[in-house]
Amino acid sequence: MHAITAAADASPGPSFIKRAYYVLKAWRQAPLDVATLCPSSPSLTRKLADRDCVKNAQNIIELGPGAGGTTQTLLEHMRPDARLMVVEKSTVFSEPLRAIDDPRLDVVMDDACSLVDLVTQRNFGLADVVVSGIPFSSMPATTAKTIAESIHQVLRPGGVFIAYQIRDHVTEFARPLFGPAETEVVPMNLPPLTLYTWTKVCMPPSSAKDNGASRRSLSA
Ligand SMILES: C[S@@+](CC[C@H](N)C(=O)[O-])C[C@H]1O[C@@H](n2cnc3c(N)ncnc32)[C@H](O)[C@@H]1O
Repeated sequence: MHAITAAADASPGPSFIKRAYYVLKAWRQAPLDVATLCPSSPSLTRKLADRDCVKNAQNIIELGPGAGGTTQTLLEHMRPDARLMVVEKSTVFSEPLRAIDDPRLDVVMDDACSLVDLVTQRNFGLADVVVSGIPFSSMPATTAKTIAESIHQVLRPGGVFIAYQIRDHVTEFARPLFGPAETEVVPMNLPPLTLYTWTKVCMPPSSAKDNGASRRSLSA
């Protein structure tokens, strides 16, 4: 009900064909960053967004929204009072992302390596869900480690990290922080890929003081 009201108020953004044009343009500039020639399929975006953790979330972060297909579907499933911060590195995607007219959306053109600073500067608070399409398989290991650690840091205890990936390198960086992932193959996407889902374990009571400090520093 909430999602239907919010979707009715929002401008949906570019069509699939228009998004494909931007993906090709960005891929020509930075193929390793974009890592695909085709925008995410409706089957994939639905599997990402049609989840209780998204529908119940207050704060969602998306890394690598590209031309915004995943972003649009997340917005359709989010509460009207929720917030979505998207962090995209390629300036090619600035236009289609800014064409999504939704007051819940904050488009940040920056590198996910700066995630902790971005969350702090924007007073965003800890995230309930982080969704990521950035290709962990084609970035340097030091970058992948920094981004995985940043995701872990900005998530609240009990928060959910969802990554959609062609290859499984993300597990190498996320597993030491989150433990084993739940996986689901999405065949109806070009190329077919896997959804990895982790839940950040709630801290034991002895660590609760530290978590309070990090929650304050992220929302300061
Ligand atoms: C597979 S595409 C995302 C697909 C898109 N979500 C869709 O629905 O079609 C990966 C995206 O991650 C972005 N990206 C790669 N490395 C990044 C980084 N370090 N920080 C932010 N965005 C990054 C790329 O520019 C690209 O838009």
